[in-house]
Amino acid sequence: MSKDKIFIFDTTLRDGEQVPGCKLNQDQKIVIARQLDALGVDVIEAGFPISSPGDFKAVEAIARVVKNATVCGLSRSVEKDIKCAADALRHAKRPRIHTGIGTSDMHIKYKFNSTREKIIERAVAAVKYAKTFVEDVEFYAEDAGRTDNVFLAQICSAVVKAGATVLNIPDTTGYCLPSEYGEKIAFLRDNVVGIDKAILSTHCHNDLGLATANAISGVIHGARQIECTINGIGERAGNTALEEVVMILQHRMGQAYFTDIESKQLNRMSRAVSDMMCMPVQPNKAIVGDNAFAHSSGIHQDGVIKNRENYEIIDPISVGVDHSSIILTARSGRAALAFRAKEIGFNLFKDELDVAYNAFIDLADRKKEVNERDLKKMLSSMFKVHA
Ligand code: KIV
Ligand code: ZN
Repeated sequence: MSKDKIFIFDTTLRDGEQVPGCKLNQDQKIVIARQLDALGVDVIEAGFPISSPGDFKAVEAIARVVKNATVCGLSRSVEKDIKCAADALRHAKRPRIHTGIGTSDMHIKYKFNSTREKIIERAVAAVKYAKTFVEDVEFYAEDAGRTDNVFLAQICSAVVKAGATVLNIPDTTGYCLPSEYGEKIAFLRDNVVGIDKAILSTHCHNDLGLATANAISGVIHGARQIECTINGIGERAGNTALEEVVMILQHRMGQAYFTDIESKQLNRMSRAVSDMMCMPVQPNKAIVGDNAFAHSSGIHQDGVIKNRENYEIIDPISVGVDHSSIILTARSGRAALAFRAKEIGFNLFKDELDVAYNAFIDLADRKKEVNERDLKKMLSSMFKVHA
């Protein structure tokens, strides 16, 4: 069976950077963009050039240095935005203009005080104008998650006719259930006129914690591009996390799909974004959290020491983490203590382990976690090293 490529569109530098406190300077943006390019993302959304002179310059600089990925700039369906994005992207090897407009009745009435017909006209005019600068034009239907599917198919058909190459279907407010979002994508796949000329893209926000599930549901129903950010950062509760969708596709859906992401770079990439944006990653975050490959209960530790796969579905090495960790706490058992003691040179006999375990539990009850230094100190006071 031939596999379908899923294009990875990274918007860490645009949707991710909109997060309060996550502002990067131009040099930092260039470092991240280069790292994303090396990671193998297909598209880097580098910014929103009209939003500030700083953003314009950053998009321009990123466009110059990125070697492989398409570099994309955001714009509203407004001529001056589109022209500004085109100017910022003029040195890109593969430029893409991302333009669009709100399509839900809510946005049409309360944001634009307009009508569905006029919104279609603006969308078509924007795409046609963007096409005068670049071949690759992505159209976003903002708040598509709450947009009537028949109208969404109508506006998508109109912009494909105008030359849009990618149709972005954002669940801007993180409203959809995975089944609803999947049905929306399937409806568009079956009803947009000329859909063979464009690809459908997911762009899911995480307000209900469903951004990853919705993106995957979109792929199952016909989307071939996923918009996402490193560590899932983004407006409010964030966006689909790149590392999550990539590992789901690689690990659970690899018979049907592939991406070009070098998954071994995921951990490093996550740390770079977290450090530069001063945005800590929650310890229990899937794939890149500190605890993603750490085991602390006695039963799990015993199982992992016997065979890692008893409690791990992903090999940590495949995402750039050297090894699984056995964390010593008051919940740990003898197997974990013996394992960690051996790692630091104490290969304990059974009677020694019993004595060490009593001392360890006493220490662990006083401390949250017994680290390597504590363990060495405790064991050295009791035994000589014997490997
Ligand atoms: O969430 C959203 O709708 C967006 C668009 C601007 C693409 O970020
Ligand atoms: Zn968004």
